[in-house]
Amino acid sequence: MSNFVRIKSKINKFNKNLSIDGDKSLSIRWALLSSQSLKKCKSSNLLLSEDVYSALNCLKKLGVKIRISKKFCEIIGLGLNGFKYKDNSTLDAGNSGTLGRLILGLLVHSKKKIKLKGDKSLSKRDFLRVIKPLERFGAKFKSNFGKLPIKIQGTNYSKPIRYYENKGSAQCKSAVMFAALNTEGETIIKAKKSRDHSELLFKYLKLPIKVIKKKRYDIIKVKGKHKIPALNYKIPSDISSAAFFIVLTALSKNSKLRIKDVNINPSRMGVFYILKLMGIKISKINIRSYKGEKIADLVIKSTNKIKPINCPISLNSSAIDEFLLIFLVAAKAKGISYFKNLSELNQKESPRLKWGSKILNKIGIKNIITKSSIKIYGNPNLKINKKIIIKNFLKDHRVFMTSVIAALSLGGEWQIFDKKSINTSFPSFLKKIDQLGANIE
Ligand code: S3P
Repeated sequence: MSNFVRIKSKINKFNKNLSIDGDKSLSIRWALLSSQSLKKCKSSNLLLSEDVYSALNCLKKLGVKIRISKKFCEIIGLGLNGFKYKDNSTLDAGNSGTLGRLILGLLVHSKKKIKLKGDKSLSKRDFLRVIKPLERFGAKFKSNFGKLPIKIQGTNYSKPIRYYENKGSAQCKSAVMFAALNTEGETIIKAKKSRDHSELLFKYLKLPIKVIKKKRYDIIKVKGKHKIPALNYKIPSDISSAAFFIVLTALSKNSKLRIKDVNINPSRMGVFYILKLMGIKISKINIRSYKGEKIADLVIKSTNKIKPINCPISLNSSAIDEFLLIFLVAAKAKGISYFKNLSELNQKESPRLKWGSKILNKIGIKNIITKSSIKIYGNPNLKINKKIIIKNFLKDHRVFMTSVIAALSLGGEWQIFDKKSINTSFPSFLKKIDQLGANIE
C-alpha cells in the first residue's frame, strides 16, 4: 500500500454526526498513572494509536502487566517506585514527546540503569527541559546535549524540589508532578498556564495536591509517597483530533457537523475561542462533567465570512496543537491576522511554525514569519488551481492531517506523503474523512 494520498477535488456538502478517537494526553496519563497503582485499573475508549502503544510497551518493559482488548485496557501496576526490569534495559518512546518526557518523571528512583530512545523526530527534540528539573530530585542523566538517547540512573535519596516552569509546557510540569508522586515531602511548582489533565487526575484520585490559580500561572503543591487508588476511566474524545473536522466543516460549503463526547477542558479549548473570534459558527451543547474533566458535543456550521484575528497570546497554550489549522482558517479571512509568542511551535514533532508558513506559501497565501510569530495575509477568494506536494515533515501527523483538510476545503490537486503518520495520534482519521463522503485516492 502506498504511503501517500492524492486529493483532486473538494469535499461535497455534508450534514453528519461524528465520533472521534480518545484523547492522547489523557490516554498516556491514564497508562502511566495506572502503572503507579497496586490496584487493577481499567479504561475504555483508550486511544489505540502508536504513541499510546509505545507507552504500554515501555510499561511492559518495566514489568507492568497489561491486557488490551478492543473495548478495554487493564493495567495492574507495581505501585510507587515498583518497576521491575533488567539492568541497562531500553525504553522506546517512538514519536511521543509526552511519553518520553512524562515517563522520565517516574524513573527518578529507578534502581537500575535504563536508556530512553525515540524515533528520528523525537531524537531532534529538547529533553534538557525535563532533565534539568529531574536532576534536582537526585537522579543522574547522561544525554547527547539534552537529546535522546538518554541514560538514567535513579536515586534512593530524593528530595522534593521547587520548580518554575516558564515555557507553558504541560509535559515539563507533568514530568515533575510524576517525580513528586514518588518523592517524600512537598514539591512546589510555579507553572505558566498549560493543559491541566495531570492536576485533574491527581485531584480525582484524591492524591495530596493543591492548585492555586493565578492570572498567568498556577502554583501546584504535590505531596509524595501516597498510595494510588484504582483509576477506572472512560477516555473522552480528543479536541485536537476533533479540530481537523471543525475546520473542514467551517471552510466547506453548506455543511454541518456534530462531534460527540469531546473533552472540553478549558486548558485545551483555545481553538474553540480563537475560531469563534474569527467568526466561525461553533457551539457546545450537552455539557457534562466526568471525573474532573468536562465533556460536550460540538456543533459546527460552514462559515462564509471569516474575520482576521490579532490572536490573544493568553490563548496560545490552550491551542498549542491546533495552530496549523488556525493558520489555514486565517488564510481564508478577509484581512491580516497576527500570531505572536509561538516559538514553542518549533519544538513539536516538526518545526511547526515553519511548516505553517510552508503550507501557506504552497497555497499562495502571503505570510511573514519570525522565530516566534507569523503574519498571514488572508484571501477570502482563495482558489487553488495547481499541484501541491507535501512531504518530509518528520512524521508530524498534524502536518499530514492539516494538508488533507486544506486539500478538501480549498481545492487544487494534492499529493500528501506519510499517510502512516496518522497512526501516532489519530489512526481512524482517513476513515472519518471517508464517512463524510470525501474522495481520496
Ligand atoms: C502535551 C503537551 C503539549 C502538546 C502535546 C501534548 C501533553 O506539549 O503539544 O501534544 O499531553 O502534556 P508541551 O507540554 O511541550 O507544550
